[in-house]
Amino acid sequence: MSTSSASLPGGTQALGDLTVSRFGYGAMQLAGPWVMGPPADRDGALAVLREAVDLGITHIDTAGAYGPRFTNQIIHEALHPYPEVLHIATKVGAVRDAEGGWPPARTPEDVRRAVHENLEDLGLDALDLVNLRLGDAQGPRPESLAEPFEALVELQRQGLIRHLGVSNATSEQVAEARAIAPIVCVQNMYNLAHRQDDELIDELAGQGIAYVPFFPLGGFTPLQSSALTAVADRLDTTPMSVALAWLLQRSPNILLIPGTSSVAHLRENVAGAGLTLSGEDLAELEKIAASSIS
Ligand SMILES: NC(=O)c1ccc[n+]([C@@H]2O[C@H](COP(=O)([O-])OP(=O)(O)OC[C@H]3O[C@@H](n4cnc5c(N)ncnc54)[C@H](OP(=O)(O)O)[C@@H]3O)[C@@H](O)[C@H]2O)c1
Repeated sequence: MSTSSASLPGGTQALGDLTVSRFGYGAMQLAGPWVMGPPADRDGALAVLREAVDLGITHIDTAGAYGPRFTNQIIHEALHPYPEVLHIATKVGAVRDAEGGWPPARTPEDVRRAVHENLEDLGLDALDLVNLRLGDAQGPRPESLAEPFEALVELQRQGLIRHLGVSNATSEQVAEARAIAPIVCVQNMYNLAHRQDDELIDELAGQGIAYVPFFPLGGFTPLQSSALTAVADRLDTTPMSVALAWLLQRSPNILLIPGTSSVAHLRENVAGAGLTLSGEDLAELEKIAASSIS
């Protein structure tokens, strides 16, 4: 039975002129090992996507590079025709090589091809949100985004893209994008232990731009910390629930896209993220950032 997104932890939030559940879902974990190939458990992947929508999640994050293409195709199979309330965000700017690497693909022709592949694989006439993914697997890199971003703006003018965002971006690149066209979100790595974007999040909040942390649970190696475990034990919950609740409390412009390939973990994360952290809990969790060398 479907539940409403308003009852999910964090309620709903604006993403441009779209309304999405602040508790979203990141689809990267659905592909095969190291995000290559089809899902190891195809029925399980379909079940996770359908459960996400049934729980009231209206924001799914994906990319043509996941699989590559397999993840978008499984989203299509699981959920098409999409409920009107569901918004799928995707990314362009990197492809996959035979070794599973993520080489950049950011010529205007590359991003045009990627947008058309996303449209085809997802079975859509227009993409709700396309993030230009910058940098590389090691993080953001100083480089101009003008050429690929202008190519996306042109596709937006043609009606193939509703909203634009940037990912794996420096503050300078966020400013460069905004000087070219409006963006509705920044999707960067951020979690309890990785706090490089603290200042940027606050700036974006003041400008009505969403901040979408990737690796909210630590990514391929989920967060582990004695302070996190201590707070979770005291609240009789899981470290993952505390990590997600902390993000929701950190700033109202934060949208969650935690990844999982497990229906049980998805339910556990949705159930746990609504807890309220006290001043004492927050002070203890601050120690994680202070002790992290990231
Ligand atoms: N823009 C970019 O460059 C970029 C880069 C990376 C990711 N992303 C996006 O961000 C999303 C989130 O990142 P992510 O999925 O890589 O990492 P994540 O959300 O930080 O963590 C996912 C990991 O946590 C585990 N997990 C989830 N819930 C759990 C629970 N309750 N108990 C124990 N383990 C749990 C998952 O394993 P199970 O499958 O076993 O649950 C998986 O290994 C991705 O799905 C993707 O959409 C974007």
